[in-house]
Amino acid sequence: MEKTKKKERYKRLLIQIEELLTKCDDETARMSTIAAILYHKLDYFFWCGFYRIIDGELIVGPYQGTVACQILEKNKGVCWAGINEESTIIVPDVNKFPGHIACDSHSKSEIVVPYRDKNDEIKGVLDVDSKEFDSFDEVDAAFLEKIIALL
Ligand code: SME
Repeated sequence: MEKTKKKERYKRLLIQIEELLTKCDDETARMSTIAAILYHKLDYFFWCGFYRIIDGELIVGPYQGTVACQILEKNKGVCWAGINEESTIIVPDVNKFPGHIACDSHSKSEIVVPYRDKNDEIKGVLDVDSKEFDSFDEVDAAFLEKIIALL
């Protein structure tokens, strides 16, 4: 998607998500709302959802898209890299990312954004996959970071 169009789309989505998240404090409900809105409003999102750290493992949470891996092997792949590096990771070509875990072979590029609790501790990641190479850029990173800060 063209950058200006992408920015405008995200600005509207941010407002919409902010409004919807005033209605319920439950984390699963909030994650589900975020995943559903992003997946249905951004057509390059082929898979969109959360992986949560539970007892030291990374386990899938609310998501939209094709069936995902339920548990991700520890310290392998993009999601664990986001957690271990404590930063957003943009992968233009998943084939070039050492250890990438392919839950669906259609996935070609990916972005992972860690989210934190109120004590600033990382609790998991938002993960988004695209069927095209090089779908994600700094606009996705900036807005997805704002969106998951609302969790
Ligand atoms: N590709 C991720 C695994 C999760 S799926 O993309 C839904 C990874 O390498 O951690």
